[in-house]
Amino acid sequence: MILLDGKKTANDIKEEIAIEVVNLLSDGGKKPHLAAILVGNDGASETYVNAKVKACEKVGFDSTLVRFNIDVSEDKLLAEIEKINRNSSIDGLIVQLPLPKHINEMKVTEAILPEKDVDGFHPANIGRMALNLPTYLPATPAGILELLQRYEVETLGKHCVVIGRSHIVGSPMSILMARNNYPGNCTVTLTHSRTKNLNEITKTADILIVALGKAEFVTTDMVKQGVTIIDVGITRVKSDKTKSGWKLLGDVDFEDVKNKCSYITPVPGGVGPMTIAILLKNTLLSAKRVIY
Ligand code: GUN
Repeated sequence: MILLDGKKTANDIKEEIAIEVVNLLSDGGKKPHLAAILVGNDGASETYVNAKVKACEKVGFDSTLVRFNIDVSEDKLLAEIEKINRNSSIDGLIVQLPLPKHINEMKVTEAILPEKDVDGFHPANIGRMALNLPTYLPATPAGILELLQRYEVETLGKHCVVIGRSHIVGSPMSILMARNNYPGNCTVTLTHSRTKNLNEITKTADILIVALGKAEFVTTDMVKQGVTIIDVGITRVKSDKTKSGWKLLGDVDFEDVKNKCSYITPVPGGVGPMTIAILLKNTLLSAKRVIY
């Protein structure tokens, strides 16, 4: 079993980005600048956004964090997005999801200028992704591709099973793994909560990408010998063994399945850090005007 070390790989990518920033500045350019909007004070979202801001500092980007109370109106949020859209010193804008129920998430996503949509969630960018046009790829699926590529995991002709059809992970992942690219060229099965005989399908997976948000859902009886497993789950559970009082569990029962795997991502230290590395990469692409 080979561990797909997302923490190390993300650090490698961050070092590469930091070098590019130095080069940009010495060529007379400006620092890439990411703006993040956080609504409310959900513990997990707060952790993720703080990690994104810290990662910006690490690679030499500017960052702006805009915070709103949980009861902020949709209009006020949209007005802030408009302001950032018009601010030419900001290259990338993300609005941390999920948003409170009174705010229409798709309306917010569509309000972000596609040129600044470094999360790759805007319908225009999802369309470009599906058509294999240059775009910002959604950070988590793109992080998974990068991990497969850097560990030279064979994908051509393989059966890739994705569990979960979210707009952020499962759905774009299924499109990307089927593209005529490396990593890609898989035969893809996208499974979800209404799928029948899930175990029969997962047992035929060469590559299993799990993003349904149920802690330790995938067990050894669901996978075949030699499978590659990508675990996107991060469920926070209370723990008296950690300093923070929390621990993170993946969607895969790691100890149960690990001996059957060719490759597997750990949680934490797998997909999570890769998501942040790709967000930085997308922001750099925006600053360099590579996509648009
Ligand atoms: N919530 C969970 N994942 C993400 C992400 O990649 N970007 C944003 N903006 N919100 C998220």
